[in-house]
Amino acid sequence: MGYLLDNDRLPAGDRVVAMASLFDPITTGHLDGLGIGPGWRCWEVGAGGTSIVHWLAGRTGRAGYVLATDTDTTVVAAAAGPTVIVLRHDVCADPIPGGGFDLVHARMVLADIADVADRAQALAAMVRALRPGGWLVVEDLDPRLQPLACPDERGPAEVLANKVRAGVHSLLASRGIELACGRTIPGALRDLGLADVTASGYFPMTGPECAALERTTVTALYGDLLNAGLATPDELDAHLGQLDALHLSAAPMISAWGRKPAA
Ligand SMILES: C[S@@+](CC[C@H](N)C(=O)[O-])C[C@H]1O[C@@H](n2cnc3c(N)ncnc32)[C@H](O)[C@@H]1O
Repeated sequence: MGYLLDNDRLPAGDRVVAMASLFDPITTGHLDGLGIGPGWRCWEVGAGGTSIVHWLAGRTGRAGYVLATDTDTTVVAAAAGPTVIVLRHDVCADPIPGGGFDLVHARMVLADIADVADRAQALAAMVRALRPGGWLVVEDLDPRLQPLACPDERGPAEVLANKVRAGVHSLLASRGIELACGRTIPGALRDLGLADVTASGYFPMTGPECAALERTTVTALYGDLLNAGLATPDELDAHLGQLDALHLSAAPMISAWGRKPAA
């Protein structure tokens, strides 16, 4: 699909690094909580970058393995190794690449899938790939839960930041990105028959990583924001010039997990 923020349209490395700094500690905390350890067989769906794949391989060790799949393996290819297999794979369309997984994890993948039926198909495929008792962990942003760049609108710079953020959301929505995806995951996991479904949310309120993410996003979408009449060049330049002085937030991420019932 024509994802607005895909790897060939932006400084992918910068965005992947910013997302990883913000959200990897939350993700790995949840996975540790589920008891991930040596020997686990894991499928990382829509892996994107390498950080979570490396982390999984470190936890599962030589007795386990990690299958990392994505429709675009440009970045994650670097993670391939003795216990890491990287595969170009469309989770909506291609046959399940194996089965009997102890863990299937997908972060910020579902919201990229514009078609609701495709999204359901992707989740069903992930459940089918689990062994009985295996865990499915699905995480996605929910920008509609907290849509502001600067929840504390102290002055014109914050007002402008919120205008630019609204423009970014408008563009993403127009391209089929689901901005209220996170909240739907716990219900979807329950509907698929998973047991022990649990979910929590994480909301980065401010920090250097939030500014880094904003810089890569707005820079990548600069031309699109102008073309859509959502901001002027002066506004975008002013916003980019004052990012480091703002208390910028990032969207909340909802993490949900459930276990495939024993057969
Ligand atoms: C926003 S990135 C998230 C990457 C990574 N999971 C993370 O959390 O940093 C979304 C990723 O999902 C991948 N993706 C989107 N649709 C997909 C599909 N149908 N099958 C497999 N991967 C897909 C994209 O190529 C991209 O790498």
